[in-house]
Amino acid sequence: MNASPLQPAQGQDHGQGQTLYGGVTNRRVTVRDIAAAKQRGEKWAMLTAYDALTAGVFDEAGIPVLLVGDSAGNCHLGYETTVPVTMDQMVMLSAAVVRGTKRALVIGDMPFGSYQESPAQAMHNAARLMKEAGVGAVKLEGGERSARSIELLVEAGIPVMAHIGLTPQSVHAFGGYPVQGRGDEAAHQLLRDAKAVQQAGAFAVVLEAVPAELAAQVTEQLAIPTVGIGAGAGTDAQVLVWTDMAGMTAGRVPKFVKQYADLRTVLGNAAKEFAAEVGAGTFPAPEHTFK
Ligand code: KIV
Repeated sequence: MNASPLQPAQGQDHGQGQTLYGGVTNRRVTVRDIAAAKQRGEKWAMLTAYDALTAGVFDEAGIPVLLVGDSAGNCHLGYETTVPVTMDQMVMLSAAVVRGTKRALVIGDMPFGSYQESPAQAMHNAARLMKEAGVGAVKLEGGERSARSIELLVEAGIPVMAHIGLTPQSVHAFGGYPVQGRGDEAAHQLLRDAKAVQQAGAFAVVLEAVPAELAAQVTEQLAIPTVGIGAGAGTDAQVLVWTDMAGMTAGRVPKFVKQYADLRTVLGNAAKEFAAEVGAGTFPAPEHTFK
């Protein structure tokens, strides 16, 4: 029996651990729960979060994995890309998300320039996210090129989620955000990258902006879960940036985004109504006033 997203089942155990949705109620989700979900074919959802309040809402909704993505750069901090995001910012945002949650596995993203120099640099900064923010895992971009760093972190006891395909920290090299893995050579490279991060010990891998058929092939060939974003329905899990998912993002969103709410309109209307009532002198009313 699958746990329904609307009716969370309480801690079902299929002999391979508790289900991610609705199960694991009295402790945090771990990377072992994630591995068990792949074994039993349970699909799961990951959302980004950048603050304690929003993370708490997602945690209560049963989202098992929250990523403090460096998408905070463009979705939270007002930058155009993820490139300017610093380690200090990621530590601060990740710590807030950890404080705001009880159950979700919180993953801290390693920002541009915090791990590319050397495996030792990756170790130093991943340790900051673990010790200062209290995350349960880290994420970094790159396949074969990041394998040695992943290996070192995993050897040190740090769970690592890898991220291949479209890696937004390389926006300037890509000249934008093009779909990756099109054509034979690019598809083979994606598969090599996926196998390299699995071999290095990553517990999961994000596949961003790759053709659905290729993402499904990679998913079939890997023992670790794939987490798709713009990668079709054949991956083990799906991730969306929360501001896209909830309709907070201004302007156009990428083709792969589904907006499940229109928070930007809801919040804007609330602000307008507040301002109008203040202008009209109808707020505060007697019930909002101390005597
Ligand atoms: O930074 C981020 O939010 C991400 C996800 C889109 C996977 O890397």
